[in-house]
Order: sequence, then structure tokens, then C-alpha cells
Amino acid sequence: MDKKFYISTPIYYPSNKLTLGNCYTTVLCDSIARFYRNLGYDVFFLTGTDEHGQKIQKIAEEKHLTEMEYLNEIVEDTKNLWQLLNISYDKFIRTTDDYHVKVASKIFNKLYEKGEIYKSKYVGKYCVPCESFWTDEQLIDGKCPDCGRDVIEANEDAYFFKLSKYENFLRDLYKNNLTFLLPENRANEMINNFLNKGLKDLCVSRKTVKWGIPVEFDKEQTIYVWIDALSNYLSALGYLCDNDENFKKFWPCDVHVVGKEIVRFHAIIWPAILKALDLPLPKQIFAHGWLTFNNGKLSKSKEVGKKEVIDPRILSSRYTSDSVRNFLIGDISFGQDGPYSQEIFLNSYNGILANKVGNIESRLIGMLLKYNNGKIQNGKVTEEIDSKFFDTIKALKVECISKMKELKPTLSYKTVLKIIDECNTYLDLNKPWELFKNENNKNRVNTILFNVIQAFLETYTLLNAFLPESTTKVLKKFNIDSVKIDENNSFNFDIDGLTFEKGEPLFVRLDINKELQELNEIANS
Ligand code: ME8
Ligand code: MG
Repeated sequence: MDKKFYISTPIYYPSNKLTLGNCYTTVLCDSIARFYRNLGYDVFFLTGTDEHGQKIQKIAEEKHLTEMEYLNEIVEDTKNLWQLLNISYDKFIRTTDDYHVKVASKIFNKLYEKGEIYKSKYVGKYCVPCESFWTDEQLIDGKCPDCGRDVIEANEDAYFFKLSKYENFLRDLYKNNLTFLLPENRANEMINNFLNKGLKDLCVSRKTVKWGIPVEFDKEQTIYVWIDALSNYLSALGYLCDNDENFKKFWPCDVHVVGKEIVRFHAIIWPAILKALDLPLPKQIFAHGWLTFNNGKLSKSKEVGKKEVIDPRILSSRYTSDSVRNFLIGDISFGQDGPYSQEIFLNSYNGILANKVGNIESRLIGMLLKYNNGKIQNGKVTEEIDSKFFDTIKALKVECISKMKELKPTLSYKTVLKIIDECNTYLDLNKPWELFKNENNKNRVNTILFNVIQAFLETYTLLNAFLPESTTKVLKKFNIDSVKIDENNSFNFDIDGLTFEKGEPLFVRLDINKELQELNEIANS
């Protein structure tokens, strides 16, 4: 089996500081990437920033900064945010990076030389904030269908990519490969909303946008948005560069994870461009839903000047990186929309992190301290209930891994949480606190603890991809420095004889009302 895995987030627009919405995709991708690494895969996890376009030019001007001065600030903030949230990307690409500029240019030239790009006139409407061209039919009440703002007239020379030529190719793709675009219902959307309406050639250059990659053979023009942006998935690997080792190793991509508003670009335009370049297509595109706030999409443009959306930087520093990750992974089903509110966030912290993840650890250490002076000792007095317990845990472990391989991280996470419940049930059934009263049961009590700690370590090993900060801390106490999910063996942790002292609880239960009040004070400050 080919144990390599390439996963990407969209490259984000640095038109403002990134929001919890951008964190959503990044945290999900990070959990998937970490999980595959823990399974022993060679992983390439890519993220970055999409830095060209009129909007960036305008913002920089307004701030009396050069584009690069402005971009560097936002990129630094973005990288700090990813560090706060424990994002383990292998590469952070900026579309202003030299190598990307060269590769995007080469791709554009190549498509032109192959006759896939031609010069014509662009006539239509343009939305400046969205950087989107629209036809009259696409407008809603004369306004941009994405953001509802006014559009401007556009009429200028431009280059076009022969997208229309790929209609049948794309139809075949959707007919023959039912898992190319997930969740499944998104494919119908592509077929009904785009393919069945007929594909038009795509405008891929602009004369009026100065902040962009120049078209090499026509210096009046710059490459417009999507050829520049989508090429990042190739240029990051060294495609058309001297060192293309990563390209040879990792292309085609295993999964591009994107928000549902940009699925068309990834599921229609990108496969057509790749086909035109004679390159294999990504194995999968996953279009997830939106994190919503006050019933709308949580977005950078809406947040300007408002503070009611709580900053992921604040949440992470107040409640740890794992609190943000727990909410994003666990409280929104991957593929659907889901709301953010302080109440949901805080209740999830108490319900999952304090009551389950943290509680099982302190419960076990507490019992070790009370029943055996903190020492793990395999008492080797087994009973039938033990093998049943192990079978249940093993089945849940298999389920957790397979859910992740089916790209269902939320379900994979929920499955791990079920293992914690099973550990608690095992303790409740065996009642070591009663057995302990009789000295003759010492070995059985030690066996029960030994067993449940083995299961607990299986849990934390699986949980590590989702909650790296807290699990790494705890696994270290058990001398586990590098996390490995062993698909073939279970309950083999070498822990006999380890001794523990009383420690700090991992997650302290929050007083929700008090926290709500403090968060609201921060939001209104
Ligand atoms: O679209 N809920 O950049 P962008 C869930 N540069 N995900 C959200 C979200 C929300 N409320 N808000 C943002 C771009 N996202 C282009 C992409 S790719 C070659 C070019 C996430 O800054 C989600 O992944 O607008 C969405 O697709 C992405 O951020 C949009 O980021
Ligand atoms: Mg956007």
C-alpha cells in the first residue's frame, strides 16, 4: 500500500485577519493530517495565503502601506494563529513567493502554447470586493450574487481559458467517479448548476489589476485569480521547478478540503486546468459547510469593525488550543453548516473536555494513588469481563480509524469519546472502590486499573490528532514520546511499574455564567 497522503486547505485571502471560519478548515485538515501521520503515513499538509488582486492593492493603499508591508503583517498574524492552534502544516505557501510566481507564469505560458488560452474581450460585470466577474444572468437584482453589493461594468482585452471544451470530460468525471467530490450531494449541484447550464470560457487575466503576476508574453495583463491561486497546489510541491521530488512523490493530491462557496473552482475549473496540462486529477475534493454566527456565514468582511465574533486568538489563549479544536471538530458535522455561540463553545468545553477527556485521566490517576500508592502494577488476575471490554474497545478503535479514512473526522472524534465512556463503564461495573476494601482483592484491583489504563492510552493515542496539546502532555507522563496508532496490535503499552504523583487537572470545569459575562465584556471592549 502507498502510505503517503497529501492534504491541502484553501489558501486564504489576507484581506483582513483570519477568523474562526478560516480556523475551521485548517483545524479539520490538521487533525486529518496528524491522524495519518500517527498511522505511519508520509504526510504533506499544505496551507498558505492567496495574496494577489485588486482588493489587497486597495487595502494597502488605504493603510498607506506597500502591498508587501501590509501582507507581511497579516501573514505573520496568520502564522502566529496557526502556532497557537497547534497547526502542523508541512508548508506554508504565499502566492507572492518567488517560486510560486515563476510556476504560475510557466503554467499560464504552457496553457497558451497548447492553445488552451486565447485572447479576446471581456464584457460583463465585476464585483470588486469579491474579485469576481459575473454575467448579467448571474446577478441577483443587479447586484453581486455572492455578497449583494454593487457591481461595475467591465469591457477590456483579456485572456480566456477554454473551459467550455471540458464539459463532457467533467460529465464523465462525475459519472464515473462518485467519490471525486464529497459529500455526495455536492456533485449534483455541480452537474445541475453548472454543467447542465453550459460552461463558458473563463477569463484568466486582467488589464486593470496591477497587483498580480504579469502575463509574460503580454505585460499589460496580469494573471487573474484562479490560475494563480489554484496553481499553489502544484507549485508548493516543486512542479516545473528544478527540485520536483515532492511533486513526483505527492501528486496527485489525496484531498483538497474547501468551503462550499469555492467548490465550483475546485471541482470544475481545477480538473479542467489539470486535464489541459495533462496532469492527473486530485483524488478527492471535500466541500465542507459553514460555521455560522447570528444565522449568517461567519466571514472576514462582516467582522470588520465589530467585535462580537470572538477571536480564535482570545479563545485559544483563555481556554487552550484544544478548546477551539474540540469545538470546531466536534460541534459541527463535517459537510454541514453549524452555528457558533459562546454558549455552545463553553458547554462543549465542560461536556467534552472537562467531563470526559480530562475527567478520565484524573479519575485513573486518583485511583492509582488511592489503591496502589500511584503505582501501575499488572496484577494478572483476569476475568471474563476483561476480554469483553477489550473487544469493545478494539471495535471502537477500528471504527475510529475507518471513519477517518472515509473522511469523517467528526464521527471519528465522536467514536474516540465513546471509548472514554466504555472505560468509565468498565470501572463502574468492576467497582474497584469496593474490591479495594478487602486485602485479598489487591491483585484484581491492580489488574482492573492496568486494563483500563491500557484502554485509556489507546484512547489518547487516537485522540492525539484532534487534541494534540493536552494528549501530548498526558502521554509524556506515561513515557510515550512519539504517538503511533498501531492498526494491528492493541493494549501493548509498556507501563508496568510506572508511578504517579498527584497532578493538576487537565481541564477545569468552567462556571458558564461567569465566562459568558467575561467574554461579552471582551467582545464589547
Ligand atoms: O476563498 N465556515 O479565500 P478566503 C467555514 N483565496 N469555513 C470558512 C468560513 C466559515 N464561516 N469562512 C471561511 C478564498 N472559511 C480563496 C481560496 S484556494 C486555491 C483560494 C474557510 O480567505 C473555508 O475553507 O475567502 C473557505 O473556503 C475559505 O476559508 C475561504 O477563504
Ligand atoms: Mg471568501
